[in-house]
Amino acid sequence: MAKPQKRYVCQQCGSVASKWAGQCADCGDWNTLVEDAGAVVTPFQAKHNLQSGGRAIALSGLDSEIPLPDRMATGIAELDRALGGGFVEASATLIGGDPGIGKSTLLLQAAAKLALAGRRVAYVSGEEAADQVRLRARRLGLGSAPVQLAAATSVRDILTTLGQGQAPALLVIDSIQTMHSDLIEGAPGTVSQVRASAQELIRFAKERGTALVLVGHVTKDGSIAGPRVLEHMVDTVLAFEGERSHQYRILRAVKNRFGGTDEIGVFAMASEGLSEVGNPSSLFLSDRDESVSGTVVFPALEGTRPVLVEIQALVVRLASGATPRRAVVGWDSARLAMILAVLEARCGLSFSTSEVYLNIAGGYRVADPAADLAVAAALVSALSERPVATDAVAFGELALSGEVRPVAHANLRCREAAKLGFGKAMAPASGVEKGALEVAGFRTLGAFVEHLLGR
Ligand code: TYD
Ligand code: MG
Repeated sequence: MAKPQKRYVCQQCGSVASKWAGQCADCGDWNTLVEDAGAVVTPFQAKHNLQSGGRAIALSGLDSEIPLPDRMATGIAELDRALGGGFVEASATLIGGDPGIGKSTLLLQAAAKLALAGRRVAYVSGEEAADQVRLRARRLGLGSAPVQLAAATSVRDILTTLGQGQAPALLVIDSIQTMHSDLIEGAPGTVSQVRASAQELIRFAKERGTALVLVGHVTKDGSIAGPRVLEHMVDTVLAFEGERSHQYRILRAVKNRFGGTDEIGVFAMASEGLSEVGNPSSLFLSDRDESVSGTVVFPALEGTRPVLVEIQALVVRLASGATPRRAVVGWDSARLAMILAVLEARCGLSFSTSEVYLNIAGGYRVADPAADLAVAAALVSALSERPVATDAVAFGELALSGEVRPVAHANLRCREAAKLGFGKAMAPASGVEKGALEVAGFRTLGAFVEHLLGR
C-alpha cells in the first residue's frame, strides 16, 4: 500500500511543496507553508490523466427544488435593503469601511435589534474592551438587549466557546484583522492570518447555520485590507461609505450571492447612533429656495432607487496666464475634463482661462453616466452666471460628438423628481415619456446650451 503523501501548501500563493520549508520557493514569503492534511493518494493506474479514478458526482438540472435560504430581517430597513432582505443563515458577510465611519455602531445596533427580537446573537470585539462596547450600547439605548458580548481575538477560543451550546443565529466579528489563528504563524492582520481566521469562522458559520458578519478594515486605496481572496471567500461584501465630516453614510452591496448589488442603504450619524434615512433625496439637496448660478439637480439612480443630488459648479476667471485648477469632489475628474472639452469644441464655450470646481452636495459620490448633462448645465450656468430654473432637473449622457444620449430608467427619474416637487426635466430627446414632469428633450449639447442661455 502506498504511504499517505504529505504536502505543504503556501497560504500566500497556493503553491504546493512536498517538503516543508521556512520560505515558499514560489512567492518567497516566510512561514507560509502549512501541512495540508487531506492530500488524496491517487491510484497508480489513474496517474496518467484525470479522467478516471475519481468518484462520480451527482449532476442535476437547474430547476430542482431548493428552498430559498432563510433571511433574518434586522428591522433596520436600510440595512435589510442593502443586504437584499436581511442576513442569510449559514452565510458570511464582510463589511468594509474607513475607520470611524460607523461599522461597529451599525453592527451593534443590528445585533441588539435581532437579540431583542429573540435571536441568539454573539458580538465578539477584538478592537474594543467589552466595557467600551457596553457603554456604547447603553448610550444608544440598547443596554438591555440580550447580546452575548465578548472581547477576544483567538479564533480557537471563540469557536470552542460558541461550539458548545446552541450556535448563535448571528455572529459579529469586529474586526477580522484582529483575529488570530494558532494554526499558522504570524501576527494578526497579516495576509495569511486574516485568511486562515476567516476560513475557520466561515466554516463554522456554514456548518452551524450561523449568519457571520466580519468587519474588515480598509486600506488607503479603499480596498479591504488583507488578501483580496477574503472578498472571494464570503457571500456578501458591503461597503460603508461617507465623509467622516458629513453626517451621511451609504451602505452599498459590492457583492451579493443571494441578491442584487444595486441597492443602497442610507444612514445619518447622530448622537444616538445611526438613524435610517428613508428619503435620501431630501437629504442630498441643500435648501433650494433661491436660485444660484452653477447648481443643478440631478436624479441619480442607485440600483432601482432614484436619489436626487445637487451638482454645484464654480468657474473662476483667472487674470494671469497661470495654469487653471480643476477640482472635483464626488465625481470623476477625467469625465469633467471630457465635458469641458466637449463644451469647448462643440459649443465654443471656453474654460481654458478659468478655474473650474465641481462638487456633489452632501458628500455623495456619483458614478451614473447620466450625470453628464447635469454637470454640463452646472458648468454653463456657472460660466454665464445664469441660474438654472430651481424647479428643473437635468439628466442625459453626452457623447464626444456633442450628442445627448438616452439613459436608463428615465421615467423613474422623472417620477422621483415630480414626487419631490420638481416641475421640469431637461433630458435626452428620446426615451422619456410625457408624464409627471414637463420634459424638454435635447438631441445635441448645442441645443441644450442655447436653451440654458435663453436664446
Ligand atoms: P464606529 O462605529 O466606532 O466606527 P468604525 O467601527 O467604523 O471604526 O463609529 C465611530 C464614530 O461614530 C465616532 O467617531 C463617533 C461616532 N458616533 C456618533 O457620532 N454617535 C454615536 O451614537 C456613536 C455610537 C458614534
Ligand atoms: Mg469599529
